[in-house]
Amino acid sequence: MILLATTNPGLEDLAAREIEEKLGAKIKYEIVAGGRLTAEFPGVLEEIVPKIFTLKTIHKVSLVLNEAKISANKEGLKIIYDVTRNSKPYLYLDPQATFAIRSERIGTHQYTSLDVAKVAGQAVIDATLDEYGFRPKVNLDYPTIIFDSIVVHGRYFFSLRLSGEESLHKRKYRVYDHPAALKPTLAYSMLMIANLKPGEVVVDPMCGGGTIAIEAALGFNVKEVFCIDISPKHLRGAMLNAISAGAYGKIRFILGDARKLNEIINTQADLIVTNPPYGIRLFRREKLRDLYYGFLNSASKILSSEGRIVVITAEHALLKNVATRLGYSILLERECMHGNLKVKIMMLKPM
Ligand SMILES: C[S@@+](CC[C@H](N)C(=O)[O-])C[C@H]1O[C@@H](n2cnc3c(N)ncnc32)[C@H](O)[C@@H]1O
Repeated sequence: MILLATTNPGLEDLAAREIEEKLGAKIKYEIVAGGRLTAEFPGVLEEIVPKIFTLKTIHKVSLVLNEAKISANKEGLKIIYDVTRNSKPYLYLDPQATFAIRSERIGTHQYTSLDVAKVAGQAVIDATLDEYGFRPKVNLDYPTIIFDSIVVHGRYFFSLRLSGEESLHKRKYRVYDHPAALKPTLAYSMLMIANLKPGEVVVDPMCGGGTIAIEAALGFNVKEVFCIDISPKHLRGAMLNAISAGAYGKIRFILGDARKLNEIINTQADLIVTNPPYGIRLFRREKLRDLYYGFLNSASKILSSEGRIVVITAEHALLKNVATRLGYSILLERECMHGNLKVKIMMLKPM
């Protein structure tokens, strides 16, 4: 069985690790494009479908029904038709079901994603008419069955969506939308990178709408989570999100300044994990250095002996500069995408 999964570009290996852990099987994975991977493993579809909804680093999952090499010229559309038709799509349809094709195209081709959807849709209809003698109905708004038709450079994947219409990163708990909110899948990936362990104390000193704190409280059996923000509005929003997530009891909310962590927290932190302002949306650049300096300076005073700091920022050069001056060592840095923005996740430890 081959699954096609999407995640944040740059974090595919974490997605693969989570699939292995949650689906309970060793997988062979391949990154087919940024944020897109195939995962091959032995397993039964009925067993894995419920587990898919427990995945926290992944956006969409589908079951690959057929795959082929494809040309970039108009001939490619013929291949799309044949590959789709031969994938036996009728096995997932009945006269009451409706279907939709969701198409995507990565690379340069002489056809559009709309062409891909049209041709694949026709192939599904023709295959079903031939095999079962009924014409399946298309419903683009609320289909019962979703097929993904994805062209990635020279390859075509036709697959059955298992994770539903909505991306899994859209957690239901988000009732307050912070203007610079982090994708929960990115937040969860940061916690995996930090190797957060059960029983640890976690602090997000610039928590905004509380995404990182909530993901930590829900997914990692931690001892306690502190959610700190200087803005009363965002902190209230974080509280509302935590209530809606059922995580309120595990999180302590503090209105305070990330530059004075040693004055507002009297517990030792095992992990400080945060998504500070980048200086693009919220902050003027010259204020950033003061914020990053004050934050790292006060953070070192509350870290336990196992303590580490994980930060996601587009201002990684500034963070690195400030961290080295303050005597931190950089344990890890990796590039990934936060929406359309190239950012880095960095892990620091006081020397
Ligand atoms: C990029 S946002 C965090 C978004 C959050 N990760 C989420 O998913 O909603 C950065 C946050 O840092 C807060 N902030 C800025 N300066 C701060 C300071 N000195 N102390 C504490 N919080 C601060 C802002 O109010 C803002 O909510």
